[in-house]
Amino acid sequence: MHEKTIVEAKKRLFRGEVVIFPTETVYGIGSNAENEDAVKLIYKVKKRPLNNPLICHFSNIREIEKNFILKEKDIELAKAFWPGPLTLILKKKEGSKINTLVSNNQSLVGCRIPNNEIALDLIKELDFPLAAPSANIATKTSITSINDLDNELKNIFCIDGGSSVLGLESTVLQTTKEGCKILRLGSLTIEEIKKKFSEYKIETIESNLSPGNQLKHYSPNKAIRINAENVFDDEALLNFGKNNLKSKIEDLNLSIRADLSEASYNFYNFLNILDKSKCNRIAVAPIPNHGLGKTMNDRLKRAAYED
Ligand code: TXA
Ligand code: MG
Repeated sequence: MHEKTIVEAKKRLFRGEVVIFPTETVYGIGSNAENEDAVKLIYKVKKRPLNNPLICHFSNIREIEKNFILKEKDIELAKAFWPGPLTLILKKKEGSKINTLVSNNQSLVGCRIPNNEIALDLIKELDFPLAAPSANIATKTSITSINDLDNELKNIFCIDGGSSVLGLESTVLQTTKEGCKILRLGSLTIEEIKKKFSEYKIETIESNLSPGNQLKHYSPNKAIRINAENVFDDEALLNFGKNNLKSKIEDLNLSIRADLSEASYNFYNFLNILDKSKCNRIAVAPIPNHGLGKTMNDRLKRAAYED
């Protein structure tokens, strides 16, 4: 079904262009990770500062092992969660052709194997990894459907793969001697890691360790008010679960049955719809702070941050 668009995307990537493609988490905007000009183009179209590194996407672990040093825990996590919403921060091997601009001249690079057939089919066709951040303008929200693509990115070649099945970005982590530290919360929850690896000590970094964890980030255009217990007349409502909250402008419920997976799937799309409504601000109902709820609350806190 997508064969033709994959062939076209491949051609463009070989020419050093950028393309937008689906993954199971959010859409990515990718280019040849070994080509400096192609990598530069990503930062330019996204208006992203060069010091915020990109994730390299691969189709299999052998290609990752060619370029990176994997320690025992990296291999354990990779076997458990790849392909999937896990980004491992790995040390580049001497001689790796991955361009230094991908990771702000650091030897530590974020790597992942996405769990999406189109993304995997595309990457398999290439003889280089795909450097790809989320397909949005820097500081704005990630997108989970091509309908939500920013106008400024609409001239870029894009493979439409429907709605992203998970809806929140990958979890970025680095392994340590005792376990791992989480640099960005994401679709892979701390609970899921603990369930598989109960002996791991898991640290979460609340501060700014991952450069993408700037305070103001993942933000729609309208202001956000989190943990809302009421809704003002000029506010749209992003609701969660059953309650009496109501907006005079527009309401959307992430999950009436309070299911965090369903809420994650709807999260960015609903924020985008409400952003376009005639509200002055978006009030967000409280979301339980565990599992995927912790990730959504992290994004909402950054979106609500006023500097
Ligand atoms: O699900 C995802 O991760 C999506 C899809 C397209 O794969 N990608 C994504 O990329 O969200 P991006 O660039 O929007 O976010 C990547 C995050 C940023 O917070 C970045 O700072 C962090 O990963 N990151 C990337 N490389 C890193 C590195 N070498 N060290 C520390 N953090 C890194
Ligand atoms: Mg992003």
